[in-house]
Amino acid sequence: MRKAIIAGNWKMNNTIAETKALVTELIPLVKDAQCDVVICTPYTDLATAVEMTRGTNIKVGAENVHWAEKGAFTGEISAKMLVELGVEYVIIGHSERRQYFAETDATVNARAKAALAAGLKPIVCVGETLEEREAGKVKEVLVRQTKGAFEGIDKEELDNIVIAYEPVWAIGTGKTATAEVANDTIAIIRNTMAELYCPKCAENRVRIQYGGSMNPKNVKELMAMPQIDGGLIGGASLKAVDFSQVVNY
Ligand code: 13P
Repeated sequence: MRKAIIAGNWKMNNTIAETKALVTELIPLVKDAQCDVVICTPYTDLATAVEMTRGTNIKVGAENVHWAEKGAFTGEISAKMLVELGVEYVIIGHSERRQYFAETDATVNARAKAALAAGLKPIVCVGETLEEREAGKVKEVLVRQTKGAFEGIDKEELDNIVIAYEPVWAIGTGKTATAEVANDTIAIIRNTMAELYCPKCAENRVRIQYGGSMNPKNVKELMAMPQIDGGLIGGASLKAVDFSQVVNY
């Protein structure tokens, strides 16, 4: 019912030259994928990635976007600029941005609205830290982040948004949430979406990815879980063979 979507988050990796090499290798390896395939790249690689993937099954995403249409925001990039480049997706509220760049639920919401208004598809990230999990606050944190991110967003937009559940303690650490923990935690997010919108909407139209040390070895087990609709892949998206093995799970 919900089509799986697997996206690479390159983070601050790959020059244009490296992008050319990686995408060239990737295109034939993922051409028969059954899921939606997205690569989210640094701003400087977007034009190259869009150009190279035209006519393939790979879609391109950015890793952030500003909420204003334009103006005096030195160093920022607007949704319209991304759309004009041919970008289709944008990661919003990644935990690294929350941690290092003062991202809040309110700025996540503002960015998501601006992205949708311009026709981009946001991949909205939520997830608890290790301290929050150990303090028994997983539900409280995820409900707050989810409600915050979706404040004022219409039901009609649900087909255009993806949620990524990324437990902060599993990112880049080699520690994956067990498939059961990931599944149960994603259920909390889906229940929150059911409450915010409607149970059917949450069941049929909200795609929720898992992210955090997802790789060729654990992808099958994670993707077998009923709540998990895909993955947001960091480290393993930087090697064409590894990413293709995740995508072709
Ligand atoms: P890793 O796959 O490197 O753990 O990163 C996950 C992530 O942060 C994707 O957005």
